[in-house]
Amino acid sequence: MSRPRRIIVDTDPGIDDAMAIFFALASPELEVVALTTVFGNAHTPVCTANALRLLEIAGRTDIAVAEGAHAPMAMPFRGPADFVHGGDGQGDASLAPPSTRPVLEDAVELIVDRVMSAPGEITLVPLGPLTNIARALQAEPRLAANLAGIVLMGGNAFCGGNATPAAEANVVNDPEAADIVFGAACPIVMAGLDVTERIVMTGAQLDLIGEVDHPRAQHLAAILPCYRRFAREASGLDGIHVHDSTTISYLLAPQHFSHRSHQIRVDTGHGVGRGKTWPRTRPAQHGDDPWAGRPPVTILTDADVDAVVRLELGRLGVGL
Ligand code: BDR
Ligand code: CA
Repeated sequence: MSRPRRIIVDTDPGIDDAMAIFFALASPELEVVALTTVFGNAHTPVCTANALRLLEIAGRTDIAVAEGAHAPMAMPFRGPADFVHGGDGQGDASLAPPSTRPVLEDAVELIVDRVMSAPGEITLVPLGPLTNIARALQAEPRLAANLAGIVLMGGNAFCGGNATPAAEANVVNDPEAADIVFGAACPIVMAGLDVTERIVMTGAQLDLIGEVDHPRAQHLAAILPCYRRFAREASGLDGIHVHDSTTISYLLAPQHFSHRSHQIRVDTGHGVGRGKTWPRTRPAQHGDDPWAGRPPVTILTDADVDAVVRLELGRLGVGL
């Protein structure tokens, strides 16, 4: 097998973040270099504790956790999504506190250090608001040129939002940061709601995770009921949208996805559209061009749902 692809996962764990992290850790094609944390589904210190706990559960305390931003770049934090992920970000499953600690570097320092010391090798996988990534791009102007790429969960190009009618949760939690990241001069893949809301893991499939005799699967079985309750109440869904794990599925099996390529701007205004990711779908006609100079972004638009769900469940130990 070729060398594993090296990734840094920037995350706000988060129930679907936990699924994505375990999915990545169970995939030999990927080397998880570090987890960096950000506010989002919970406040940052809670997300950091969760990241540490997840690595302890997975038996991977060799992987560094670096704490990141506590608030967006240009506004106060809108507040945790406790109605989705529980007050502790992990389904109110009464987890023991972690016994490990984050490294002394903060998230931006870690990202810049690891990327610049391995030029062209590292892919960033952001699963939360893009604050740390934007700050790292600002702190080191050569960062983008030294990345293998960014594969992120966030945004909505051709569909409505989930946090507001216009916007997706990760992007609306820091639209200014997202607009910086979508302007980075490196390959960017956007796994937003266009594709993640098409990928449903059914209740019956989720039940199979609980039958797997492995600490990772048992942790997911303990935290998933909270997420399933929200999906049932919010969308009448018997199952969940597979948001964050879609990044990992794409890294492992891009052939299962269809995509379109457009430049992206993020609405950073303070009206109803705040946080909407706008693809440029027609050429500039006259006057100012807000998309000028932006790199094309690979926007995932659809997937072979059965193949993607089977891939993730298989890696989590479910025999299908
Ligand atoms: C995103 O928002 C968070 O609640 C999830 O963890 C995911 O990253 C989906 O919009
Ligand atoms: Ca997340």
